[in-house]
Amino acid sequence: MPRVLQITDTHLYADPDGCLLGLPTRRSFEAVLALARVLADGREPDAVLLSGDLVHDERPEGYLYLRGRMQDLGIPFHAIPGNHDRVGLLAGHLDPGAGQRVRGVLVGGWHLVLLDSTLPGEDGGRLGPDGLMALDLTLGACPGLPTLVCLHHQPVPVGSPWLDGIGLADGEALLAVLARHAQVRGVVWGHVHQEFDGVRSGLRLLGTPSTCVQFLPDSADFALDTRTPGLRWLDLLPDGDIETQVVRLAAYPDPIDLRQTGY
Ligand SMILES: [Fe+2]
Repeated sequence: MPRVLQITDTHLYADPDGCLLGLPTRRSFEAVLALARVLADGREPDAVLLSGDLVHDERPEGYLYLRGRMQDLGIPFHAIPGNHDRVGLLAGHLDPGAGQRVRGVLVGGWHLVLLDSTLPGEDGGRLGPDGLMALDLTLGACPGLPTLVCLHHQPVPVGSPWLDGIGLADGEALLAVLARHAQVRGVVWGHVHQEFDGVRSGLRLLGTPSTCVQFLPDSADFALDTRTPGLRWLDLLPDGDIETQVVRLAAYPDPIDLRQTGY
């Protein structure tokens, strides 16, 4: 039974003390990474999914730092870009596969299909007809493997208009493709800096907190949340079920000013 650890929206900087909205993102990431070592049953993940917005300053150092920390863990890792990433830097310095629009990796008996949902220069995402067709072909080639689809942008509204305005523009088209492939059991994403757990037509839909600042759920406009940074683990069962849990820090590693109005 493969176990996948999802780490997302690390927003790292070349400067080790670099801050997002006053929060030093490397310190927060390190604190969350330490959580990965104390999962309930102590069993290590088989793979780490890094689901975008990994670096915030369009420089290579954050990717190199992240690569070093993943290599220290000694667990295979797979990265996809978010709107704050530069795909060339991500592919060049962290994960060469991240330059592909659609790719599949096998983890245990499961198929992880990783999508690049980014649009250069835009916060919102889109797969487009070509991306959706490539996904359809990838899924059609592996009908017998339970499958988890991974991307940065949320394909369904999460309830915050400001965030849903920069989600996946063709989310419904994505779900229509997935509905044609019964082996697809779930979709996971980052981007929203909050937990989301839903089901639609038997498909598990999962959004995951950032390792740094959290966005307030159900807020019309940008607002920060008091909930703490975290990660998600996923146990992918042989029958296609997904057991998953978000784990959060007990407290922020540094005090955070919640009165920020944007980023
Ligand atoms: Fe982010």
